Amino acid sequence: MPLVRDVPTTPFPDQKPGTSGLRRRTTVFQTPHYLENFVQALLDVAALPSDATLIVGGDGRFLNREATATIIRMAAANGIPRVMVGQGGLLSTPAASHLIRLHGSGGIILSASHNPGGPDGDFGIKYNAGNGGPAPESFTNEVAKRAAALTSYRMCDVGEIPLDTIGEHDLAGMTLMVVDPVAAYATLMESLFDFAAIRTLFAGGFRMRFDAMHAITGPYATEILERRLGAAAGTVINGTPLPDFGGGHPDPNLTYAHDLVEELFGASAPDFGAASDGDGDRNMILGQRFFVTPSDSLAILAANATRAPGYSMGIAGVARSMPTSAAVDRVAAAMHLPCFETPTGWKFFGNLLDAGRITLCGEESFGTGSNHVREKDGLWAVLFWLNIVASRKQSVQQIVQEHWATFGRNYYTRHDYEEVPSDAAAGVMQHIRDQQASLAGTTLAGRTIRSADDFTYLDPVDGSSSANQGLRILFDDGSRIIYRLSGTGTAGATLRVYIESYVAGPDGLELDPQHALANLVQAALAVSEIPSRTGRAAPTVIT
Ligand code: G1P
Ligand code: ZN
Repeated sequence: MPLVRDVPTTPFPDQKPGTSGLRRRTTVFQTPHYLENFVQALLDVAALPSDATLIVGGDGRFLNREATATIIRMAAANGIPRVMVGQGGLLSTPAASHLIRLHGSGGIILSASHNPGGPDGDFGIKYNAGNGGPAPESFTNEVAKRAAALTSYRMCDVGEIPLDTIGEHDLAGMTLMVVDPVAAYATLMESLFDFAAIRTLFAGGFRMRFDAMHAITGPYATEILERRLGAAAGTVINGTPLPDFGGGHPDPNLTYAHDLVEELFGASAPDFGAASDGDGDRNMILGQRFFVTPSDSLAILAANATRAPGYSMGIAGVARSMPTSAAVDRVAAAMHLPCFETPTGWKFFGNLLDAGRITLCGEESFGTGSNHVREKDGLWAVLFWLNIVASRKQSVQQIVQEHWATFGRNYYTRHDYEEVPSDAAAGVMQHIRDQQASLAGTTLAGRTIRSADDFTYLDPVDGSSSANQGLRILFDDGSRIIYRLSGTGTAGATLRVYIESYVAGPDGLELDPQHALANLVQAALAVSEIPSRTGRAAPTVIT
């Protein structure tokens, strides 16, 4: 008889999940009972029904496999009747969201997203509810309380978990279903996009490079791009998921996806380049010697949505996070669509998607998505772009430049100051807050300030309000300076400054953003006193 044991644990008062679940150094998760304690708290608060199916999988980083096996043992010990897991314990975050929506009552996703992995990297765990989306804050608060109070967790000794063998297994009366992590997701993509048109595009010699950054999207991209769409072998690079992501930082941006950027800006650049992050929910889109900002990407997907079969009936509305540029607002206005501005973090889109108020949404931080799942989705965005390129028969650059000519251009940049001492970062924010009342009506960088405030979101679906979501300086001409503290960093504080200005065109559409925004950047530094207060002469990362 397999043994269900109550294992004594000491409470872990630090197990308070952030916006993306519980994310900590791998070594912290290796503390005895640390993972188990949190999983027990999750399962207790989730209180799944007696016919529940729990979906489990992660991005393949160091500890993924062991943690997956532990969760399966604990699910059996806690009387959960069915667990569905991706083969090898693997599932991209969007694929997990899809499986939860298809088959699950909830799911546990193992990932620290774009943070480096490995023994010295980060690990993470989060719970998604039956709609496929991250659990709400009320849930995670309960989990934190429970995790800080537990004295034991339940564990079932069922021996080796057959994670690599696809099919149904009986584990002490619990059914474990090991599934192909890619199949259901690939079918979903085929239902949304014009695969025949994209196949024709590739057959005509269209060249693409997809950088999976040694992370989870490798198997997904290889199956969909190379096998189903006929892209040339070798289109997907760094396509085998590695526990430490090859020592890299699996974040698809101009800094970390350097191999890809070098190739796309080089002499024999392919037509199209894309990358995704550690867990597959972020995306970066590149044309030949051309970078598409995520904010523009969202606007362009919205403007061209009906070209994709999954959206051919039109879209209900759009949403963007507050610091994301207002490019999509222009499209929404022209198309008479509702447009929502939410706080940073994917969870705020969930209510709008569930209520059918929006179809597309996105963030400046390389996150784009739709109502097909309840997470952002990297490969989905890439396929959407391929669909648009195939349909418009234009290059990425032509598509973007035509978009600017039609809607105007929102110049945009984000400057990050990473690992700033927490009190210095708090001091910067307070210093800006102290000036808010006196800023309105004054002139800065040759523009008139309309208002300065602290963004509060009122959720139009459930009426809840979320305060302190970023400090805004809004100008009469639509320009904006925004300051916020990151909620996902694991060391010190990360201060983000977002700067935007709008040019209606046709003149001035082709400037380099850092040049176009230089005086606003200077103004943002002067108001905040970042250099003197943090001792930083320059940002760590400029996007
Ligand atoms: C960052 C991004 C945010 C995104 C989150 C999770 O959060 O800015 O848009 O939703 O990662 O991927 P931040 O560190 O700014 O709190
Ligand atoms: Zn991610």
